[in-house]
Amino acid sequence: MSDVFEIVDKDLMGRIGRLYTPHGVVETPTVMPVINPNLRLIEPAELKKYGAQMLITNSYIIYRTERLKQAALEGGLHKLLGFDGPIMTDSGSFQLSVYGSVEIDNPGIVSFERDIGTDIGVPLDIPTPPDVPYGQAREELETTLARMAEAKSYAGKMLLAGPVQGSTFLDLREEAARRAYETGFDVYPLGAVVPLMESYRYADLVDIIVHSKMGLRPDAAVHLFGAGHPMMLALAVALGCDLFDSAAYALYAKDGRYMTVDGTYHIGRLQHLPCACPVCTAHSARAIAEADETTRTRLLAEHNLYATFAEIRLIKQSILDGDLMELVERRCRAHPRMLSGLKRMMDYAPYIEKFDRASKSTFFYLGPESARRPEVLRHNRLLQNLTVTGNALITTRKDTDTAGFDHVFGVRMPFGVFPEELNETYPVGHSETISDFGPEARDLTLGHVLSFIRSRPGAAFTFACDRKWESSVLEEIAKVAQVKKLY
Ligand code: GUN
Ligand code: ZN
Repeated sequence: MSDVFEIVDKDLMGRIGRLYTPHGVVETPTVMPVINPNLRLIEPAELKKYGAQMLITNSYIIYRTERLKQAALEGGLHKLLGFDGPIMTDSGSFQLSVYGSVEIDNPGIVSFERDIGTDIGVPLDIPTPPDVPYGQAREELETTLARMAEAKSYAGKMLLAGPVQGSTFLDLREEAARRAYETGFDVYPLGAVVPLMESYRYADLVDIIVHSKMGLRPDAAVHLFGAGHPMMLALAVALGCDLFDSAAYALYAKDGRYMTVDGTYHIGRLQHLPCACPVCTAHSARAIAEADETTRTRLLAEHNLYATFAEIRLIKQSILDGDLMELVERRCRAHPRMLSGLKRMMDYAPYIEKFDRASKSTFFYLGPESARRPEVLRHNRLLQNLTVTGNALITTRKDTDTAGFDHVFGVRMPFGVFPEELNETYPVGHSETISDFGPEARDLTLGHVLSFIRSRPGAAFTFACDRKWESSVLEEIAKVAQVKKLY
């Protein structure tokens, strides 16, 4: 078990956790704002006001800037930034990926991170971009893994991150995660995913997160490197990411971009501010757009931070309430590519189901993807344990005459068949659904009903239903049961 990360609540693969660092305990999920030590748009000490618990900065930039390097070595990183909470430092791998080389080696940067008092250090991993040849991804991964192992002997008491690379090769991601976990790190960042997010490849991102998680154990704290747009946080948390970091709040602000959970707006095109944060209640869109560049950037960065941490708080509340899936389904309707991400997530529902909690508040049907939720799969998986012999009735109405039947079952979209005793329990009994399902949910429900009946050849089934059941569906059911129309 991890000795620095503790899980206190769960929903889907998402969790509320506590990360113990030398400078205090951080409640996850959370976003670490990225601090550029040369460009302090918002003073690190002020960031707590917006909801930040922990920061991330770049040790390589500090190392390369003589003034910063001396100050950090003499007074420590926390004094340099004026922040007394936990600070993670990145290693210069990003510079390596942009410029092709860096002026320090792995032991050098890890020792430097240790010496300046970083809470969590990162080795000099190689961020292999998406879609490179397999051989390159394999080779760079081996280098990264060797550097990670090497970093352990230079880390001292500093917590150490073990980046998971492997480009877009899911077998490599899974292997990278497994080997990193076996070596043992305190945090596991999933690397080189920024290009995927920049090009809205959320389905590919889902693949990478899930396959990396498959190689890790659930007790591993997972960091999604470079992710921090509020639109995608709920999805990533639901897949088991605990930490995020983002320079986007500041980079977007410089470009005049205003972040929301529904996407990004350009401040110059906004006439109204769809947000209730202190910035947006005190200023008009026009006042922000027409302010001098420094003021505009500052105000947008503040709003972007408020919007990001408001979403983090909502995600945490959703985990406590057990309705994270509903939040993810809503958020994934912000952009068609997010919807692709949601659909890809549902392809993994049989895997997610293993981690999902047993009881939640109310299951809301919010669209065809809801029919593929882990809860629906779990319901049908648990039903397989039920033996049925003799005469069995499956009915859509509570007032059906049940005389002469050995078993009576209800049937409800999108779950399929359920024993009457589950009428008051989650999810079947605690669900809000609609009556006019589309074809996707209908076919999935029909599939559950048919397999329930087919897997019990020792019983004789009667299917009693109301008008809602289409004749084409009843034709299918009639092949395995006697159909009785209650109208
Ligand atoms: N920042 C964004 N992606 C990465 C990555 O893959 N590795 C490191 N070290 N930093 C990153
Ligand atoms: Zn705002």
